[in-house]
Amino acid sequence: MSKIKKIFVCSNCGVSSPKWMGRCSSCGEWNTIVEEVIQHETAPEERSRLWKGSNGAVRDPKPIALPDVQTGTTRRLITPDGELNRVLGGGIVSGSLILIGGQPGIGKSTLMLQVALRVKAKILYVSGEESEEQIKMRADRLGNLQSNCFLLTETNTSKILTHAVNLEPDLVIIDSIQTLSSPHIESTPGSISQVRECAGELQRFAKETNIPVFLIGHITKDGSIAGPKLLEHIVDAVLQFEGDRNYTYRILRTLKNRFGSTDELGIYEMQSDGLREVSNPSELLLSQTDEELSGSTVAATIEGLRPMLIETQALVSTAVFGTPQRTATGFDLRRLSMLMAVLEKRGGFPFAQNDVFLNLAGGIRVDDPAIDLAIVSALISSLQDVAVPNHICFAGEVGLSGEIRSVNRIDQRIQEADRLGFKQIYISKYNTKGLDTKKYNIEVKTIGKIEELYRALFE
Ligand code: TYD
Ligand code: MG
Repeated sequence: MSKIKKIFVCSNCGVSSPKWMGRCSSCGEWNTIVEEVIQHETAPEERSRLWKGSNGAVRDPKPIALPDVQTGTTRRLITPDGELNRVLGGGIVSGSLILIGGQPGIGKSTLMLQVALRVKAKILYVSGEESEEQIKMRADRLGNLQSNCFLLTETNTSKILTHAVNLEPDLVIIDSIQTLSSPHIESTPGSISQVRECAGELQRFAKETNIPVFLIGHITKDGSIAGPKLLEHIVDAVLQFEGDRNYTYRILRTLKNRFGSTDELGIYEMQSDGLREVSNPSELLLSQTDEELSGSTVAATIEGLRPMLIETQALVSTAVFGTPQRTATGFDLRRLSMLMAVLEKRGGFPFAQNDVFLNLAGGIRVDDPAIDLAIVSALISSLQDVAVPNHICFAGEVGLSGEIRSVNRIDQRIQEADRLGFKQIYISKYNTKGLDTKKYNIEVKTIGKIEELYRALFE
């Protein structure tokens, strides 16, 4: 007899409890406990036996001495998409489970279908969201390239896994994990226990058959993938596809990777016929005008492991209402407030009476603190309405007392600015250790304080 079970699960941390609570006793969040009905609980071994068939031997691992473990057998499936390979640390590791998350409409399905069409391997593309015709239409739009891609529109995990075992593909893509439902438990698709169960089944499938599985995951309002963090614990790698939908650039970041570094990132441009890899981002993120405008400066940043020159634009204008407005696109608003407070305190610039708008080119989000110096220069430039010459760029972090701090990989930043034909770069004077400035054509200017920046540029 199957037993019917009702549990209460926290949608924030995933902990389950037998009774409802207003506040989760594990993570302390309020109002996150939801009720879920679970039925037909089957033991995990039985579940994998179901899709393996009655004679399929389920792997029975035994303890093994560390020196006896075979290495060098990890195969990677190299995709024709250089950016994806880079982000995954050199291709898709066999038997791995990879989650790719992102806002709706950002291009997750497009990216995965594009991989499926271009890679020279047998692919099973499972969609619970779109019909075969819709996928075919999209494939035609992407320039349908190979016929070794199989489509399956199914949401029942048992059936999916049975097909996957029979087809023996080299890669399985699931679009999306929230639409799947396992016959072993009876809660609605997308609910916490269902997502956890389906991901668990797919993980067992990946590990036992050595076939890598990609899961597409929706992102919740607050930006976490699939609601609870628990999905991120199950999978081997978590990728995030992000960008501003009003722009064409998309960034693929690694949030977790068991087989590579999380520093890498991939950049794409969404075009009418799919996503194009962007191997040289700087040239796209700089505006094409020759005119010098106030409030616009260039930062030499590093995203992942790649140097990128990004244009920052600030607009400072007199506030119409009592409370000034502050808006930042692609940059942390709190950090902007901090930079304005430093300017106000150390330089006496009256930002408190002004509306401030900040924009980074291309709708790209930057976390690199080296962008501070460019933002500060853009703010002063707009406030004073004095343009910063467009052959100048910046790389430095601004500290709370107005000091310019050193940043990592300064060499790489200067090199990129030099390559793109900039004539001057402003960096921190504490950043010059071991730096041979003579090998560049670009002039390297060092400063220690905000005041020095002001004197050098605006006086
Ligand atoms: P989609 O992959 O459906 O997003 P997701 O799966 O993340 O929800 O892509 C959505 C957007 O991409 C859609 O608004 C149309 C656009 N698009 C292009 O601009 N070019 C293309 O070649 C394709 C296939 C889509
Ligand atoms: Mg989709």
